[in-house]
Amino acid sequence: MINSGSSWRSIIREGCREGMRRLESIVHGFLLRLPPETAHELGLLLLRMSPGRRVISDEALRVRTSFGVLNNPVGLAAGFDKTGRHLGSLEGLGFGYIVAGTVTRNPREGNRKPRIVRRREQEALVNAMGFPNPGIAKFLENVRRCRPRSTPLLISVSDEHLESLVECYILAQREAAAIEVNISSPNTPALRHYFEIETFRELASSLSQRKTRPTYLKLPPASSTDQKALIAKMLRAWWDAGFEGVTVVNTLPMEDPGLSTGVGGMSGRPLFGYMLEAVKMAWELTDGSLEINAVGGIFTGRDALTAIMNGATTIQIYTSLVYRGAGAVASILEELLEELRRSGFASITEVRGSSFRK
Ligand SMILES: Cc1cc2nc3c(=O)[nH]c(=O)nc-3n(C[C@H](O)[C@H](O)[C@H](O)COP(=O)(O)O)c2cc1C
Repeated sequence: MINSGSSWRSIIREGCREGMRRLESIVHGFLLRLPPETAHELGLLLLRMSPGRRVISDEALRVRTSFGVLNNPVGLAAGFDKTGRHLGSLEGLGFGYIVAGTVTRNPREGNRKPRIVRRREQEALVNAMGFPNPGIAKFLENVRRCRPRSTPLLISVSDEHLESLVECYILAQREAAAIEVNISSPNTPALRHYFEIETFRELASSLSQRKTRPTYLKLPPASSTDQKALIAKMLRAWWDAGFEGVTVVNTLPMEDPGLSTGVGGMSGRPLFGYMLEAVKMAWELTDGSLEINAVGGIFTGRDALTAIMNGATTIQIYTSLVYRGAGAVASILEELLEELRRSGFASITEVRGSSFRK
């Protein structure tokens, strides 16, 4: 009796799961037909109303970082929740950690719409959001109300004025497990002064004096030898100032006539090579001592494994969540477990930097 009862229960459970998967795939297909920002807002709303999903949990996926031991290495990249209002429901997707923001000192409207374009054939997006956000005070109020229950939260801060950036940094540290400092958004030209090495050193020094949490610098992709040399200098200065790590990379500057601004930043598949190069550079420059969050074109478990083999501590996703839908995190983790087994690794910890040991 007990056996037949439990087998019925498992058949019903599997049936419900399959039903949910089909429903999700229909909703996802529908969202991809809407204008990108409408789809984003509606997707976040639906997420709030939908029940919990399958969460992949396995000892082999656990990762140690400066802000704690994560259940898995897949983080939500900055920019997905710029308000701090959706963190509770995003947690249900099974991330190892979540980056909220980017937030600036004062509220901003961002650029005029349209400011996101899909390039479906490339599985890419080009965005020119321009930092729309409610400002640090309101943002932190939202975070206090909607914070994830058990998933570590990072807050991404930025501002073109050094004093305002430092102020955001101080305030955000009170509510977050760690901070990401974003000076690399291509849609805010006023940030470019941080790429003068002396200004950057001043920024690193000002932040290090106020540091109470692990802090990561978000860097742009490098597309020339000069840019690579500058980024290498910044990386070293960041490391010398005593920070824990970097997040590489932000979006790649790109023209697109579909944007109100005519120019934005590209994310998704085409960014993968840039991300990998930046991860390798950060590993090599610091002999693997710096923590590296890899972001850019990671769509599959195989992509994640490649980034980690080349030095990443964790990975983050944004665009693959748009193209693969709400089940993306669980799918990437299942694929990653499969890749671990196939490559003979016992855990993620064993994988990090393994391509440099051959
Ligand atoms: C619509 C959109 C908005 C973004 N906003 C931010 C942001 O506010 N701060 C930030 O550091 N990165 C932002 N990003 C960049 C992502 O965090 C990530 O670095 C980039 O998209 C590459 O990852 P992906 O290929 O997985 O999307 C944004 C990306 C997109 C597509």
